[in-house]
Amino acid sequence: MTLGAQQDTSYHNLPVLITGGMGFIGSNLVHALVRQGAQVTVLDALIPGGGGDPSNVAEVAPDVRIVNDDMQNAECVEALLSGQRVIFNLAGEISHIRSMTEPLRDLAINCSAQLQFLNLCRLLNPAATIVYASSRQVYGSPKYVPVDEEHPVNPVDFNGVHKHAAEGYHFLLRQQFGMRTICLRLGNVYGPRQAIHQDCRGFIDAFLRKSLAGESIEVFGDGQQKRGLLYVDDAVDAFLKAGLAGYSAAVYNVSASSPVPLIEIARTCARVAGSLPPRLVPFPSERLSIDIGSFHSSSEKFHREFAWSPRVGLEEGLRKTLEFFKSRRASGLHASSHPVSR
Ligand SMILES: NC(=O)c1ccc[n+]([C@@H]2O[C@H](COP(=O)([O-])OP(=O)(O)OC[C@H]3O[C@@H](n4cnc5c(N)ncnc54)[C@H](O)[C@@H]3O)[C@@H](O)[C@H]2O)c1
Repeated sequence: MTLGAQQDTSYHNLPVLITGGMGFIGSNLVHALVRQGAQVTVLDALIPGGGGDPSNVAEVAPDVRIVNDDMQNAECVEALLSGQRVIFNLAGEISHIRSMTEPLRDLAINCSAQLQFLNLCRLLNPAATIVYASSRQVYGSPKYVPVDEEHPVNPVDFNGVHKHAAEGYHFLLRQQFGMRTICLRLGNVYGPRQAIHQDCRGFIDAFLRKSLAGESIEVFGDGQQKRGLLYVDDAVDAFLKAGLAGYSAAVYNVSASSPVPLIEIARTCARVAGSLPPRLVPFPSERLSIDIGSFHSSSEKFHREFAWSPRVGLEEGLRKTLEFFKSRRASGLHASSHPVSR
């Protein structure tokens, strides 16, 4: 039995809150929600070293309430929560490698902040649907592929441990208080507005950065590790569908349909960008220790219940992404040049 007697069927005029809404996936979601006529509020702390950037929401800023504050700030959150029908909870830290050197930072962002925010949601707006951006990293090295939701959870880095704990907070709200919370375990997402300038995030940031510079992409090891890459519009579509869910299960994989060896991803990226061909380099030891090898998860459950499938293929997605960054560079858009309210 969940709270929230009324089931929403459209985002038109629907009040929605997006935590992490100036980040990569969050901002793409904001754009989609504005197109669908939702009443959008963004809450983002623009944490240093994260992917948040005011320019990500600059085009839609007149139609969105943008609050530059921390989800742990009770006074601020209290003022925003009332009346929200769907809360897209995308605030977080995604760097696996940084979580190993700064585990307490990762704990603060991915656990403490989440718990404080969710506790306020429970007290002030328990009828809202909450969709949480979790990660396939909770599974760790796969025991079998494709990895389904029954696969054991065994993260190999602090980020995976903390994302799993945050999932647990969402599950508890569901079990103990009947709240409608849904966790989407995302695979590698890429596309416009991702923070490719950060060096400690995923491989695809580095691939795109090198390609845009016309340089040769460095692929670690033999390049045969497979990954599914999900174009951000497909990830956004999954969030939109989950946000209007009535009854649903607690957790779903949301990932690309088929995995591709990293060397193939690099070749495609270089070909589309017209940059130098990729080259293989030895695996840096600090990355090898948290590498999960080939990974492929199955989104069959989400597909079955939400009629969702990824629509954008790798080459098309890379082309759109590279075009976005080229035009952004040409227009000189960069962080911190747009007004946000506190
Ligand atoms: N990008 C991916 O491939 C991927 C894969 C799996 C899971 N995820 C998850 O999806 C979510 C979004 O990822 P992203 O790639 O857009 O990351 P991002 O770094 O671009 O965006 C995250 C945003 O959250 C904000 N934030 C962090 N802590 C906050 C706080 N306490 N209060 C308010 N805002 C805060 C940051 O300022 C940032 O703008 C994250 O939770 C991440 O773990 C992403």
